[in-house]
Amino acid sequence: MEPSRDAILAALATVIDPELRRPVTELDMVRDIEVADGVVSLTIVLTIAGCPLRDSFEKQVEAAFADVPDVRGFSLSFSVMTPEERQALTTKLRGGAAERDNVIRLPSDCRVIAVASGKGGVGKSSLTANLGIAFSQLGKRVGILDADIYGHSIPHILGIHQKPVAVDEMIVPPVKDDLKLMSIGFFLDGNEPVMWRGPMLHRALEQFLTDVHWGEIDVLVVDMPPGTGDVSISLGQLLPRAEVVVVTTPQKLAQDVASRAASMARKTNMRLLGVVENMTGEIFGAGGGEALAAQLDVPLLGQVPLDALLREQGDAGVPIVAAYPDSESAQAIVAIAEAIDARREAGSIVKSLPLVG
Ligand SMILES: Nc1ncnc2c1ncn2[C@@H]1O[C@H](COP(=O)(O)OP(=O)(O)OP(=O)(O)O)[C@@H](O)[C@H]1O
Ligand SMILES: [Mg+2]
Repeated sequence: MEPSRDAILAALATVIDPELRRPVTELDMVRDIEVADGVVSLTIVLTIAGCPLRDSFEKQVEAAFADVPDVRGFSLSFSVMTPEERQALTTKLRGGAAERDNVIRLPSDCRVIAVASGKGGVGKSSLTANLGIAFSQLGKRVGILDADIYGHSIPHILGIHQKPVAVDEMIVPPVKDDLKLMSIGFFLDGNEPVMWRGPMLHRALEQFLTDVHWGEIDVLVVDMPPGTGDVSISLGQLLPRAEVVVVTTPQKLAQDVASRAASMARKTNMRLLGVVENMTGEIFGAGGGEALAAQLDVPLLGQVPLDALLREQGDAGVPIVAAYPDSESAQAIVAIAEAIDARREAGSIVKSLPLVG
């Protein structure tokens, strides 16, 4: 007996496009299903030629068919969407809007957590990456936005070197271990510094943000550039619902700069969630975070010890929270993620974004 078409389609509905995170059946990516002697042949149309996800589809289809009665094997081929098909897909992903409309597409209940500080090198990027993984471990669907256009180190820390996929004018973030990452660094050649200024920069960020398809995520963690420059102000305007975590080092000296970041947050209407002290320990001491939190009248969300392993794991592209979840610093970061999660309802969020469900 041949397997039923319904059973085949039901099985294929469990095959998820790893980047778009929706069933291939729903994305109209399946073509030419035929059955002969229990062998199902089908074609999956990819968004772009040379898509790196063929393996994943192959494995998923195999798993999907494993339990379908009367399926004895399958033959999967790939082809590429036509421009018209891509356009239809883009419209579908935009929730019906055919044209690009300068709306930042985040689910209405998605939290935006901006990790900021007043000066460089305090551990913003390390914390952003590790907090993202911590949220993921807490069961959240996570996006990470590397908005530090002068530094862009997050792809390296997370070990994500795969480029985003562009479907027409929509940018689909690469995914690794369930994290979606978007970095402006993906669009730059090598390490050349970015020289945009003022309105041009704002426009570039806006375009970048509105063209990114985040899909269903619960939290977006944003690595902010240091200081109170144009980028921060622009991001504040583009992501008005962002809540800010200010990172500081334990020394007294770092406070003035961090408090500048805090006043930036207030200027741009972002809600201040609290302070994280990073690199606590014998070398730099402790107390800067506490003092800054008191000064800003916000909670100290936690202290992350100075830990050589944290740096090594960042260099290796496997952040400590993923690699050594039992280490003291990983646990400190997970506790901070929990503290942020618990502070969900506290305080009001100014101005909300236009939303797409
Ligand atoms: N708790 C820590 N213990 C040990 N090393 C750390 C810790 N936090 C960060 N580092 C290391 O300090 C360096 C700077 O950290 P990171 O790049 O995260 O800071 P940043 O604030 O993003 O810097 P920038 O302003 O240059 O973007 C990195 O080498 C990182 O691995
Ligand atoms: Mg950084």
